[in-house]
Amino acid sequence: MCQQCKKPSFKSRFFADFMSRENESSYNQYKDKKEQLFKDIKGKVLEIGPGTGVNLRFLGKQVQWTGIEPNVAMHQHLKDEAHRLGLAIELYNDFAESTTLPAESMDYVISTIVLCSVKNVSSTLSEIKRILKPTGKFIFLEHEADKSWTFRWIIQKIVPFTPWRYFSDGCTPGRELGKAIMGAGFEKVVYQKYMQQGEGLILAINRPHLYGWAQK
Ligand SMILES: C[S@@+](CC[C@H](N)C(=O)[O-])C[C@H]1O[C@@H](n2cnc3c(N)ncnc32)[C@H](O)[C@@H]1O
Repeated sequence: MCQQCKKPSFKSRFFADFMSRENESSYNQYKDKKEQLFKDIKGKVLEIGPGTGVNLRFLGKQVQWTGIEPNVAMHQHLKDEAHRLGLAIELYNDFAESTTLPAESMDYVISTIVLCSVKNVSSTLSEIKRILKPTGKFIFLEHEADKSWTFRWIIQKIVPFTPWRYFSDGCTPGRELGKAIMGAGFEKVVYQKYMQQGEGLILAINRPHLYGWAQK
């Protein structure tokens, strides 16, 4: 992102176009897990890295939705999706590691396939905790590192040093996110790890997944 001219870079536009074309397959791929995860969500919700708005379909009008999306090339897709669903949204061009949102202001924070891309996982998790109300919940669905020294784990460690990093907008698939969330100081963390079904090279590398929630 060019900070002065505020015009998205080629990389940001490329990724936003890619994500918007993948919306339907992403929706279908994660539908079962997201329906379980999102079914009780209501009140004030922050979504970090919402991309083109693929999760909006799972959240009804009982939700007051705020998004933090640093790739401004995603913003029009997101607004179009909110308009299509008749949802009023509040959208910021910001990073999840450090936001201007008030402390203890959100009932839920949602993150799906974002912690692989943030620059700093531990700052992001601290910021999520700061923003959540004392009764708030962090809801997540992420992919993480496979078992050490498996073939996939080796590939996950190598790809960030290839053009993968550029075209995936910084996705680092070898992060141990379950451990990071468990160690972030939440009162209670409940999640399941699973091998996401589906085809294609990206998914072949980005396995396993974990989905669950953390109570502040
Ligand atoms: C793989 S996409 C996932 C988009 C969407 N959450 C989904 O499930 O399809 C990762 C998203 O995280 C965003 N992102 C990257 N770094 C971020 C950061 N530091 N803070 C917030 N969002 C970030 C990207 O711009 C992108 O929209």
